[in-house]
Amino acid sequence: MAEKYRIHGGETLKGEVSIGGAKNSVLKLLAATILVKGTTKIYNVPHLTDVDIMLNVLSDLGAKCIYNREEQSVTVDAVSMTSVTAKYELVSKMRASFIILGALMSRGREAIVALPGGCAIGERRVDFHIKGLEALGAKIKIENGYVHAKASKLVGTDIYLDIPSVGATENLMLASVTAEGSTRIQNAAQEPEIVDLANFLNTIGADITGAGTSEIVINGVKQESLHSAEYTTIPDRIEAGTFMAAVVGTRGKAIIKNVYPAHLTFFNDKLIKMGASIKLVEPTTIEVSAKNRLNSINFVTQPYPGFPTDLQAIAMTLLTVSNGVGIITESLYENRFMQVPDLRRMGADIHQDRNHAIIKGVKQLTGATVVASDLRAGAALVIAGLMANGETIVEKLHHIDRGYEDFEYKLSNLGAKIVRYNDEIPAPQVSSSVINRGEIS
Ligand code: EPU
Repeated sequence: MAEKYRIHGGETLKGEVSIGGAKNSVLKLLAATILVKGTTKIYNVPHLTDVDIMLNVLSDLGAKCIYNREEQSVTVDAVSMTSVTAKYELVSKMRASFIILGALMSRGREAIVALPGGCAIGERRVDFHIKGLEALGAKIKIENGYVHAKASKLVGTDIYLDIPSVGATENLMLASVTAEGSTRIQNAAQEPEIVDLANFLNTIGADITGAGTSEIVINGVKQESLHSAEYTTIPDRIEAGTFMAAVVGTRGKAIIKNVYPAHLTFFNDKLIKMGASIKLVEPTTIEVSAKNRLNSINFVTQPYPGFPTDLQAIAMTLLTVSNGVGIITESLYENRFMQVPDLRRMGADIHQDRNHAIIKGVKQLTGATVVASDLRAGAALVIAGLMANGETIVEKLHHIDRGYEDFEYKLSNLGAKIVRYNDEIPAPQVSSSVINRGEIS
């Protein structure tokens, strides 16, 4: 069943929206729960297909997982586990499953985890993960598409990452929690999700300092000393940025709740330079608005605290109708401009040369049928549809469902005219009335 959005563009978004737990944090927290031979409860877990995949990875290993949607919590009982294998069927669906490698090594010194392979947005190698584990003392073989990692003991050491890779920092942090002695990860990723993982690990009894800086020190503790805990995931900064863009792109005004503004400093600064207004209402509530046509800006995507690559496509959508010319340089991925052909189909004027895009703002986008090629490109096209004149159909919603919970529900509550439908029934009419979750109005 192929699901699509039908969007009737041109509505000004207004109202209030609440941001869910961070996908890129919660996936790692869930993997980390298996370090505890006990029961751990994680709150603020959004209902996303990626979360379902991680729960399947854990269940496949023998952990018992209960997802309580109403409470937005997951309870993981990892007292006894029956397997150390993360299958290709699951890892190939979601690269983040590879994080289970470090968690399994920390727990039991053995892991067999499928190699994720490339993905649409880039090559996305895992060489730093492997080299770092070897430096900690693991013996690694790659056979039949699987990483087989084993160690009689892991011993802390200094690890330097060539690039501040988020996944490698997390995998090595997880593996080092129960290593003998201290591990120092240099040129570590500094993303808020790294800090969240370190905070969670410290809550269950690990000894980690420096998370959020370029040098993280993990003093190894005994596996038996790790204990059950409850923990609440941080809000999703990329979801927050997505809604902020949707609001200013439609020249609207909205209150965004459950957001940590400090996690979006660079993005906020760029939006303000474009002419948007961002006001702090409470420590975790902001009011975002734009009255006039935005101005173009230039930016380069960079590891945190730089401009997030995960908001690049979304910001590009804003530039398509901004005043002037904007230049984007994508420095993290080789192929993260997949939204460009579809934005052009909606009337955008974009010239792309390798990892640079030059966007000349046009007055207005026009609705078209477009295809979500990955999660963030998909969200960018939805925003383009909300800004465009006429009707836009966005296909391949399974990409968007990986990272946005109740996307159309939240947008409808802000006044967007958007409905989800599937191929097999005629597309319903769109309306901007407030709807209940899952209901098509
Ligand atoms: N890299 C290597 N070798 C490695 C690891 C990474 O060459 O061993 C390269 C990658 O090829 C890439 C760059 O380093 O070009 C950055 O990759 P990184 O490891 O930092 O990214 P990741 O951990 O695979 C996470 C997020 C991505 C986000 C990036 C960058 C999760 C599940 N994913 O990926 O999120 O784009 O960090 O911030 O945390 C998304 O949510 O849409 C998404 C793709």
